[in-house]
Amino acid sequence: MNLATKISSLSLSNPTMLASGILGVTRGSLKYAMENGAAACVIKSISLEERTGHHAPNMITFEGGMLNAVGYSNPGVKEAKKEFINLKELPGPVIASIVGKDAEEFAAMAEELLPGEFSAVEMVLSCPHTPGYGTMAGQSSPDITEKITQAVRAKTDLPLFVKLSPDSPGIGQVAKAAEAGGADAITAGNTMGPGMILDVITGQPILDFKMGGVSGAALRPIMVRCIYDIYKSVSIPIIGCGGVINGRDAVEMMMVGASAVQVGTAIHYRGIEVFNKITKEIEDILEQRGDSSIKDIIGFTHKLEE
Ligand SMILES: Cc1cc2nc3c(=O)[nH]c(=O)nc-3n(C[C@H](O)[C@H](O)[C@H](O)COP(=O)(O)O)c2cc1C
Repeated sequence: MNLATKISSLSLSNPTMLASGILGVTRGSLKYAMENGAAACVIKSISLEERTGHHAPNMITFEGGMLNAVGYSNPGVKEAKKEFINLKELPGPVIASIVGKDAEEFAAMAEELLPGEFSAVEMVLSCPHTPGYGTMAGQSSPDITEKITQAVRAKTDLPLFVKLSPDSPGIGQVAKAAEAGGADAITAGNTMGPGMILDVITGQPILDFKMGGVSGAALRPIMVRCIYDIYKSVSIPIIGCGGVINGRDAVEMMMVGASAVQVGTAIHYRGIEVFNKITKEIEDILEQRGDSSIKDIIGFTHKLEE
């Protein structure tokens, strides 16, 4: 069974990747995810300056997944450069994740963080709960998406992934704008919302920031539809992300057009071994279907419509 896949010039031994923000804070955590089957890892998003993020409580689980308002807590680019060293010695590619308040800040991030260590970069335009960034700053519109993508493209030759929001109306158009700006792949996508969960005795929201992004199983059907729409709009590869808990979910995302999947919240439910587990489950489904390669299922649903 051939489970290898490709995103732009990145070759992956299997289609599972670690999503940004879950574990990828240290070099050691990337190694840990790879030792447990992640073919590639995205680091926790880094901003130009250090950010403390939102106060605790900033995360809570519910029946459908998780609500988080971490708010991009990170040490800033200078400290991050000290942590993320010798990355090429790890068993798989490491993808930088960058955020910024505007095109200039994104460009400065690309210039400072990327040279040397990383195999690709994911620029994030889609966080739903951090003032000044992502959807709260209107970065998910097609024109701003194209502008920021162009600004980062001008600063790096690394494969460039643009991470979009499931909240974007007409996500296919946003993906097209990223492609026009020079993106090599679309990551679809970030958490959705923001949403709220209350303590019904006090009547107060549980998160200190009151609201947060929804991840996990509740997000998956929406993301599957987003990927279906994006596949029809662009010719660059798509990385599915949002509610992939098991191999069935990964196969579903690949059938509507994803070439690989990122996994985040599922680590909470299934442990770090989730990457190996999902890969094995994908293999079982392919065998059941009579496929010999992962490539047989990428975009399969669209082929049925031809
Ligand atoms: C606790 C937490 C922190 C996150 N931090 C980031 C982040 O720093 N940058 C980013 O692009 N996405 C971040 N995300 C979003 C995930 O990368 C992913 O897009 C989302 O959780 C959907 O995937 P999942 O359902 O597999 O978790 C975070 C998600 C969670 C739950």
